[in-house]
Amino acid sequence: MGLLRSLAMLSLLTLIVWLPGFSAQSIKSALALDALLQDYAYRAFVRPRTGIPYDGVVPSNLTGIKVAAMRLRSGSLRRKGVKMYKEFGIPEGVVVLSYVERLVLVYQNLGNWSSTYYQLPGYTYLAPVLGLLVYNASNLSATNLPALDIRVSGDPLNITFPDVQSAPVGSIAKCVGFDLNGLPSFSNVISGNVCVTTQQGHFSIVVESVAPSPAPVSPPNAGPPPGGLGKKKSSKKVWIIVGSVLGGLLMLVFLSCLVLWAQKLKRRKKIQQMERAAEVGESLQMTSIGETKAPAAMVTRTQPTLENEYVP
Ligand SMILES: *[C@@H]1O[C@H](CO)[C@@H](O)[C@H](O)[C@H]1NC(C)=O
Ligand SMILES: *[C@@H]1O[C@H](CO)[C@@H](O)[C@H](O)[C@H]1NC(C)=O
Ligand SMILES: *[C@@H]1O[C@H](CO)[C@@H](O)[C@H](O)[C@H]1NC(C)=O
Ligand SMILES: *[C@@H]1O[C@H](CO)[C@@H](O)[C@H](O)[C@H]1NC(C)=O
Ligand SMILES: *[C@@H]1O[C@H](CO)[C@@H](O)[C@H](O)[C@H]1NC(C)=O
Repeated sequence: MGLLRSLAMLSLLTLIVWLPGFSAQSIKSALALDALLQDYAYRAFVRPRTGIPYDGVVPSNLTGIKVAAMRLRSGSLRRKGVKMYKEFGIPEGVVVLSYVERLVLVYQNLGNWSSTYYQLPGYTYLAPVLGLLVYNASNLSATNLPALDIRVSGDPLNITFPDVQSAPVGSIAKCVGFDLNGLPSFSNVISGNVCVTTQQGHFSIVVESVAPSPAPVSPPNAGPPPGGLGKKKSSKKVWIIVGSVLGGLLMLVFLSCLVLWAQKLKRRKKIQQMERAAEVGESLQMTSIGETKAPAAMVTRTQPTLENEYVP
């Protein structure tokens, strides 16, 4: 049983690690960026007053990214929310699950770095990625803080994107939200530039890129279309995804076979054990009978053979 359970666990783990493996690297760099920006946002605090946003300064290798930080009492966030913090509207009813007296709302605007840190194969960003993360305010020189768990018990938070590029004719813009693990989910855009969320994380507006045409179909001397490099890149990503999924499925089949084989082996072992036990029982019986043991055993053993011979 232990073997079976651990095999099943292993196959599950393999799938989990395998399938999203194609984006693990970009998720990792996005999480590292969160940690760095938390540090730089906190540096904006010099004797901060609560409820006032302070703009931070990012290192020169990240020029184009904006950060800000605002310190609040947990109770104030829960009872009043924040009507407008940069592009974010925070309603009342946002609860921090672990107790902290004060918290910091870190704001990020990734600007022209959006698609570098939040790669979304098959989609094009129409607005920068904006982030909102909630941290412990007890130590304003702390680094590598984890985001605090929050729950939105009332209305959702909203994000109003000021300059959204218009979507190409015939395609529909969507809101995308990345949770704290960097996993994306999509929702509808409200009144052209507003997204809503019940989680902290990163948000933007995207549109599906035009599907890349398969290489053999396109005429050889047509020349690369504008933006061809990006498309080639994204078609490569599609293949990586397809490969990962197929690999994961193959792995699953293989592991299932392994589990079945182990089960069979176990059953056979059990039968062997039962047979052995039966033999032992038989011999014990025979000894107790004494001298008549040999003929008795002969009869029981040969009976099935005789019956078999009479079967037409
Ligand atoms: C940018 O510079 C900062 C400070 O010099 C450094 O800690 C960080 O690792 C650099 N980040 C990137 C993405 O290069
Ligand atoms: C966004 O949320 C804030 C706070 O709850 C609210 O005051 C504002 O009306 C909302 N804006 C939109 C466009 O929904
Ligand atoms: C974003 O723009 C800044 C200048 O405004 C530039 O230094 C930086 O390299 C750009 N980042 C990317 C990823 O293009
Ligand atoms: C917040 O930070 C303080 C000081 O570093 C620590 O004592 C406390 O446990 C932290 N609280 C949470 C919920 O992380
Ligand atoms: C706050 O964090 C800094 C950096 O991690 C650490 O050196 C300092 O001891 C912490 N202070 C308190 C009061 O926990």
